[in-house]
This record gives sequence, C-alpha cells and structure tokens, in this order.
Amino acid sequence: MSSLIEEAKRRAAYRAVDQHITYHVRLVGIGSGSTIGYVVERLLQRGKEANARIVFIPTSFQSRQLIVDNGLTLGDVDQYPELDVTIDGADEVDENLNAIKGGGGCHLREKVVAEAAKKFIIIADYRKNAKTLGEKWKQGIPIEVVPFTYTRVIKELKDLGCENPTLRMANAKAGPVITDNGNFLIDAHFGLVNSPGELLRKIKLLTGVVEVGLFVDVADVVYFGNEDGSVSEK
Ligand code: 5RP
Repeated sequence: MSSLIEEAKRRAAYRAVDQHITYHVRLVGIGSGSTIGYVVERLLQRGKEANARIVFIPTSFQSRQLIVDNGLTLGDVDQYPELDVTIDGADEVDENLNAIKGGGGCHLREKVVAEAAKKFIIIADYRKNAKTLGEKWKQGIPIEVVPFTYTRVIKELKDLGCENPTLRMANAKAGPVITDNGNFLIDAHFGLVNSPGELLRKIKLLTGVVEVGLFVDVADVVYFGNEDGSVSEK
C-alpha cells in the first residue's frame, strides 16, 4: 500500500479522534479494517489517563484484538446498547453519506455498533470518495447470509437484477469465508446504486439474508484524507 494512501488514512483518523473523542465521551465504538488502526494510534498518543475513562466497543474479532492488545478497556454492545461515538472505515461513501461496508465481512456488527452511537463517524482515504455508490468500489455489495440459504439468495439476487452475485471464498482449498457470526458472504454487483435505501430494503427482505453492507442514513460525518495531505469533511 502506498505511503500516500496510508498517510491519507492516518490524517482522517486523527481528525476524527481530535474532533469527536472529547472529554465527556465515555463509550466509543471501534470499527474494523486498516484505517481504524490509526484511530487507536492517535488514542494512544493522548496517554493512558485520557483513555482510562472510556470503554471501547468492538465491531469484529480484529477490532476486539486491537482494543485488548493496546491496553484499552473492552466492552460489548450487548452491555452498552447506547454509545457516544462510533468511528469506522468504509469501502465507499456517496455524496449523501451513504456507504458500502463489509469489505472485511464485519458489517453486521459494524452496523449494530454504528446505529447504537449518537454520532457515527466514517474515516477513509480519497479512493473511497464517490458521488454515487458503485462508482469506485467494484467488489460488489457484501451480504451476510445463513450458510444453507446461499444458493437461494444468489438466485433471488439475480432476479433483483444483480449481475454476478458471488460467494466470497477464502481460497479454493479452504472454501467460503466464514464471518465472525458463522455465516457466509455474497458479493453482489448492482452497478451504480442510485437508490441505496430502496435496494437495501429489497435485499434485506430475502429469506436467509442476515445483513447488507449498505449503510443508508447512518453516518453523521465523513472525513476523507486527501492526496495533497488535507482532510475534507462531508
Ligand atoms: C470491514 C469494513 C471496513 O471498514 C472497510 O472494508 C474499510 O477497510 P479499510 O480501512 O481497510 O480500507 O467495512 O467490514
């Protein structure tokens, strides 16, 4: 990964921490992916005392490890169903702050932790900044499904106009990717998504679908790290 992209992620993450993890914040959701690592990096720079009053809520096994390995206090969303702030990455964000998430397959827990927060902040590098979903992210919309339903869901996605729904594979020998919740993932290509809310509702109604990686009307603010070193806010 180029250092320009890593620097863009870092700047977006630092801005989110500096703006939103303020003195009164007590419960913070921590997203998944590579960009979120820079959130923890910034938190650690503030020193132990500043973080000691905060309980951190993970969105995946990876994010749980990040919290624990860095000596932060771990909670869970079933203990804390209302959070102050959640910060997370995204695969793509449109001009209305709708997002595609789930490139790492964690979008079920990510959505629960995002919706639990009074403020949901997305951080991303410039490659994720789009006018319309599907413009830049070409890997499809991640859909978590109960394993035995996947061929049925794939058929129904085709009926909805999906070009080539594919079961996400770990590799040919290992078989399908299994989520933290023991489910399968389907990546569904719908081209440009002009009405993400409508598409989300249609996919969610398919029997066997657990959660869809379309985050519609969930984000409050998005910070993009740009190529020129600046950070823009949407
Ligand atoms: C995982 C996600 C991630 O937040 C998303 O894939 C972005 O990851 P990265 O910060 O590595 O670009 O949704 O399910």
